[in-house]
Amino acid sequence: MRKKRYRADENKYSILTLDDDPIMTETIQSYFQPLGYRVDIENDPYAAIERIRVGNYDILLLDFLMTPICGDQVVEQIRTFNQDLFIILLTGHKSMVPPIRTIRALDIQGYYEKSDRFDQLELLVESCIKSIDHMRTIKAYQKSLAELANALPEIYSFRTADALEAPPILKIAKRLWTCTSGFLAAWSETVPRKLVRYAFGKKFETLDGMTPQQLLGQIEAMEETGLCMRTLLQDTDGNAVGVLALETQKKPGFYQERLFEIFSRQCASALENNALMTRVKTGYLEVIQALRLMVDAKDIYTRGHSDRVAYYAVQLAVALGKEEKFCERVQLAGLLHDIGKMAVPDEILLAERRLTNEELDVIRKHPQYGCSILSAITHFREIVPIVRSHHERYGGGGYPDGLIGEEIPEESRIISIADAFDAMTSTRRYRSKMTFEEAAKQLRDNKDIQFDGAMVDVFLALIPKLPKEEIALTERTELFAERIFKL
Ligand SMILES: [Fe+2]
Repeated sequence: MRKKRYRADENKYSILTLDDDPIMTETIQSYFQPLGYRVDIENDPYAAIERIRVGNYDILLLDFLMTPICGDQVVEQIRTFNQDLFIILLTGHKSMVPPIRTIRALDIQGYYEKSDRFDQLELLVESCIKSIDHMRTIKAYQKSLAELANALPEIYSFRTADALEAPPILKIAKRLWTCTSGFLAAWSETVPRKLVRYAFGKKFETLDGMTPQQLLGQIEAMEETGLCMRTLLQDTDGNAVGVLALETQKKPGFYQERLFEIFSRQCASALENNALMTRVKTGYLEVIQALRLMVDAKDIYTRGHSDRVAYYAVQLAVALGKEEKFCERVQLAGLLHDIGKMAVPDEILLAERRLTNEELDVIRKHPQYGCSILSAITHFREIVPIVRSHHERYGGGGYPDGLIGEEIPEESRIISIADAFDAMTSTRRYRSKMTFEEAAKQLRDNKDIQFDGAMVDVFLALIPKLPKEEIALTERTELFAERIFKL
């Protein structure tokens, strides 16, 4: 049973009424305007089409029989550029309406037989308003979903280590729901794990729980206004990985709450993804560390050599203006360039005597051994050709492939300079170390013979800036490892 008369919010819905009879349009205006609709009048069909084209109307009430064109022709033209407008056709008599197939084809929502009473027309308009509301909600939901989909890369870029500012998750939430306050707590992957909190606005600033469940309990206890959406963020195994709460300006509707559910699931997934990435990253760093230590453990005289080669090589790559990915490859290849020495027997590698030609041949196989070892690990495959060619000579005559000039990978030419420079400036069992200046002279003398001359020039300019003290290996390597993931 109909309890009360519908009243549209002031100016929320707009009607254009078109009739070549001004008395009719004025009557409609004076009937609907007091009900809260904005009602404009038009008596010329062509002018009405233009008003619809440039104006913002929800409903068109139009007469069927008009001159110079009838209502169905007006609708036909409007439908070429506007499919959303709700249209009600007014007729003098039921027998005068166009055939039902025309009404359907033109997507006319209904027709009204003119009379002195407008109750039926009012009901028709109210029915349109309900559909308009529904359509607006769906459109807003679709828009928010599209915005959410666009924001996914940003959500997945969230790193719990970045505790200094509100993470993307809260920024996006603020945008999607026009929130007054927001709160996110997420487990950081530090050891021991700790709950990192982020917030904006006043509502959640007093929260102090130690677990996501405790925080959610506190949020639920403080909730009185119905403006708050909150949830526990759970990973795929159902473990709590965080909590998210938002305070909105208006009570969230059905679709806003559904959107919040989708958003929360994406946030939980991003947090889980982040944790997984941290574990992969840790595993990767541990592999690099283990390989480095194995190389170092083999020969006390060359301990730290790989770290320094990586350091010098990255300095040179940066000075050559290379992009970050390139520098990352150079760094990793620098750290692991001599990994193949693990396959060289100790009695040859550590011999304190003159080596035979056969023994030298074994040592010269270490780039190929390195390739075999590194090829077994997917992450290292891109540095395999770099490691293979780090003993090639720019002018030819190097090993294992006897490449010349630019046949040698650029990264290998860089490592070759860094490798030689560190070897010359480090003490070895068979000789004492050279000064930086003496080593620089050796590099200069071997331009375009052993080394890429243009690269040597850049490196020579760098030498005065290189640290002369012993490079603190562990710290330096950790720095390298961090860079590997930042690059
Ligand atoms: Fe080597």
